[in-house]
Amino acid sequence: MTASANAKFKPRVFSGIQPTNHLQLGNYLGAVKRFVQMQDSGVETIYCIVDLHAITVWQNPEDLRNATRELAAGYIASGLDPKRSILFNQSQVPGHAELGWVFNCVARMGWMNRMTQFKDKAGKNAENASLGLYAYPALMAADILLYHATHVPVGEDQKQHVELTRDIAIKFNHDFKVDFFPVTQPVIEGTATRVMSLRDGTKKMSKSDPSDASRINLTDDADTIAKKFRKAKTDPDPLPETIDGLAGRPEARNLVNIYAALAEVSAETVIAEFAGKQFGVFKPALADLAVARLSPIAEEMARLMADPAEIDRILGDGAERADAIAQPILDQTYDIVGMVRSRRG
Ligand code: TYM
Repeated sequence: MTASANAKFKPRVFSGIQPTNHLQLGNYLGAVKRFVQMQDSGVETIYCIVDLHAITVWQNPEDLRNATRELAAGYIASGLDPKRSILFNQSQVPGHAELGWVFNCVARMGWMNRMTQFKDKAGKNAENASLGLYAYPALMAADILLYHATHVPVGEDQKQHVELTRDIAIKFNHDFKVDFFPVTQPVIEGTATRVMSLRDGTKKMSKSDPSDASRINLTDDADTIAKKFRKAKTDPDPLPETIDGLAGRPEARNLVNIYAALAEVSAETVIAEFAGKQFGVFKPALADLAVARLSPIAEEMARLMADPAEIDRILGDGAERADAIAQPILDQTYDIVGMVRSRRG
């Protein structure tokens, strides 16, 4: 992590994931695995289950509750330690929604209109999308800045939202002539910042893709993982001799990157090992590696899910610790903005 314009702010990491559907391999490699690395590097880490974001599109209440607990289990099973990191669900800390409102009044319509993810998600039916889906990047800025977070590990697809967060912090500081919010750095690193669909190497792997075969879910069993990799779309050529040989071969590149991220080696190392080999050789090796890495996580998730009351206790405890950081920052924000704060107790 690099120091920056944020010298006055102590390093603090914040990130979040939506509790919608199951965690998929892209979330794991692009986000959760890196959250764990940051926790283990000793910096203060806060990880959120962003349930307020999830309801920007319709969620069945029982499914939402279940997905929230499953995501908590996924975080913990992947190595997040609720004692060393703060782990909680967003709606239990009211400051997110409150600061989100303030930022709705800082962000400009023109900025929001440029958000590509809104365009992708709303599609042709933007008139019928919720107002929340449109305003969501301002809430995401609030998630981050409510903790004065300096670093935000995310996948490539969230880069624009973190840039908007920076713009909001800069405009707030400028408008009120303060140096109150840090200008947060996105941390987008490694070989898996954009894991692609197994059915189409030009499309992002996503929890919401209608085709289950397009993604590996963290809850998939070993047979399903092996089958999905076996059926993954590829071209007829063998793997190239050098990394440059992956140009114009998005599916091959994607599988090499996935292998590299799972094995924690560079894509060059993977190419050196498999140069000239057919996918008939590479795919089973990839499936074995994925099963070896993911099966223990799936097993631990299932064990944790058997005790939902314990998960709720962990989230409640995390929310109290998060709130203790958030509330003073929210109070100061209201002060800066000019709100009278005279309520006792
Ligand atoms: P979400 O829930 O869509 O995704 C969670 C994280 O997973 C990453 N990711 C991927 N990385 C690599 N390859 C993929 N195919 C892939 N798919 C998803 C995402 O980049 C993300 O890091 N708006 C956010 C959640 C959020 C948030 C925040 C993140 C809300 N507030 C504050 C950081 C800080 C989202 O919808 O992520």
